[in-house]
Amino acid sequence: MSGIERVTVIGGGTMGNGIAHVCAQAGLDVVLVDLDQAVLDAGLSTIARNMDRQVKKDLLSPEDKVAALGRISGVTDAADGAREADLVVEAVPERAELKYSLFRTLDEASPDHAILASNTSSISITEIAARTDRPERVIGMHFMNPVPVMKLVEVIRGLATSDETTAAVVALSRRLGKTPVEVNDFPGFVSNRVLMPMINEAVFALMEGVAEAEAIDQVMTLGMAHPMGPLTLADLIGLDTCLSILEVLHRELGDDRYRPCPLLRKYVAAGWLGRKSGRGFYRYEG
Ligand code: NAI
Repeated sequence: MSGIERVTVIGGGTMGNGIAHVCAQAGLDVVLVDLDQAVLDAGLSTIARNMDRQVKKDLLSPEDKVAALGRISGVTDAADGAREADLVVEAVPERAELKYSLFRTLDEASPDHAILASNTSSISITEIAARTDRPERVIGMHFMNPVPVMKLVEVIRGLATSDETTAAVVALSRRLGKTPVEVNDFPGFVSNRVLMPMINEAVFALMEGVAEAEAIDQVMTLGMAHPMGPLTLADLIGLDTCLSILEVLHRELGDDRYRPCPLLRKYVAAGWLGRKSGRGFYRYEG
């Protein structure tokens, strides 16, 4: 595998537009794909706005911003978008069947040498890879939210992922200014295996009346030096995403300590999904 120069990002939502942003800023040609033209347009404006913020902070020159934006194009069909990719990064919603069928499409549409990566938070890379004819070139590239700010890329090796694929993705992550950390493919990997039980426990504490949401968060920020309390963080991630990840941990590890808190289920059922819906454990204006 030669160097990666052309990246296709599938999904222009919270994570996808951030991934497209950092790739374009690192000088890569980027195709951003979202089924929904309105989301695509919103994703491209978000990238421009976030780059403006970097210009104001002197992290990016105005010329480099214009050049980076010029390297991003948008399309609404995943197969079209992947035809010339060296690397595809998938960031569609956390639903296994959706990812399986998308990887079949990407396997057929993209060049043979292309690496297919998933930004999944918890779905097995090995199982995604098994749906393709190139399991050695399928890998997890788990970026953190917000992507332009957070340094980590959790690089997840599926059972069949080759050393060459891993090395290419590790090198690319460094080129993006990130720190790649290699982990193996187990439910929730490392990040969510450790984070989600803490968030879930905070929701149980809230449900049981141990303390108010603000108090729970303050104990963790002031007492444990976490930059953000677990309930604030859950609202940022999205409560539906947190619930999906806990369900994967519970089902795949078969241990009731991962059972999602009923209060989390209730919030998701009510459509209280956190920041993105305007209400979660806290209320958000605008
Ligand atoms: P999101 O819901 O904000 O965005 C997903 C986008 O995918 C939507 O805009 C949707 O229109 C689009 N989409 C759906 N099906 C598609 C298809 N077939 N082709 C093209 N576009 C399609 O979701 P978000 O939060 O960006 O999550 C994406 C992935 O990243 C999930 O697997 C999630 O678990 C993972 N992740 C999320 C983090 C977070 O903090 N939100 C952090 C790290 C990983």
